[in-house]
Amino acid sequence: MSETVYLTRKLPESVMEYLAARFALRVFKGTETPVPPAELMTGVKGCSAILSLLTDSIDAKVMDAAGCTLKVIGNMAVGFDNIDLAAARERGIVVTNTPDILTETTADLAFALMLAVARRIPESERVLRTGKWQTWSPMFMTGMDVYGKTLGIVGMGRIGEAVARRAKGFGMNILYHNRHARPEVDARLQTRCVDLPTLMAASDFVAVLVPLTPDTRGLVGEKELALMKPTAVLVNVARGWVVDESALVRVLSQHRIWGAGLDVYEQEPLPADSPLLQLDNVVLLPHIGSASVATRTEMALLAARNIEAVLTGQPALNPVK
Ligand code: GLV
Repeated sequence: MSETVYLTRKLPESVMEYLAARFALRVFKGTETPVPPAELMTGVKGCSAILSLLTDSIDAKVMDAAGCTLKVIGNMAVGFDNIDLAAARERGIVVTNTPDILTETTADLAFALMLAVARRIPESERVLRTGKWQTWSPMFMTGMDVYGKTLGIVGMGRIGEAVARRAKGFGMNILYHNRHARPEVDARLQTRCVDLPTLMAASDFVAVLVPLTPDTRGLVGEKELALMKPTAVLVNVARGWVVDESALVRVLSQHRIWGAGLDVYEQEPLPADSPLLQLDNVVLLPHIGSASVATRTEMALLAARNIEAVLTGQPALNPVK
């Protein structure tokens, strides 16, 4: 009898066909809504693999609901903070993610957010669309320059490096904060590793690109935000919990920084009563960092191929350690 893969969401047709040619599929019917926890618990029973999204919390209870048949959890994301790794390890379940293929797409979005906030692009468009554009005027919708400024990258991993490459093209001076220095990146891109307070104080743009772990939760808090220049911009395309959202709302509403560009939030989707929605100096996106057609399709296929590898006795392509 063929093994069963549980999909927590419908995937692109080509990927569903790829999996269906190899395994029995059980698919949550939703396209735009996460599987309700109770349905997840019954759906996974007896499956050998779960193909999960970052919206799905896969904890010990879900693993136990699947039972001893469960061999692999293929997360369609580079981040894996939605999965209880310790519980998976204890049960001998392999966890995989989808790194690399989304690096450039996500770096594009980080840069788009920097430009959008600095040059007030969404705000300017709102002015035009609401009929408030009266004339060209000397200081109308003036923003901050990006070219030649200092960029501070919090987390010099793959995406951090891809953002640094883009910043080189913008003539930027690049600082970063990372668990360890990256001399090879420094040599190639003339970057410099500094401590977090130095980065926060010296940067015109701060790009948050670290994964969410117990060490990075709340990494950019009130104290760090207070160090930023009043003309500086913060962008977060990593995970909401890395930045203290209430502290960020305070500095934005008191105009203690120029603005922020956010793709991720402590709670997703962003609650309708979030104070962020009242602010004009923040650009808010609905977690679309890797959302190009090509990249999302490749991510789904890579999650499927990781599952296939494990279920056919091969090493996973992207095991999370
Ligand atoms: C997106 O946030 C991802 O982790 O892939």
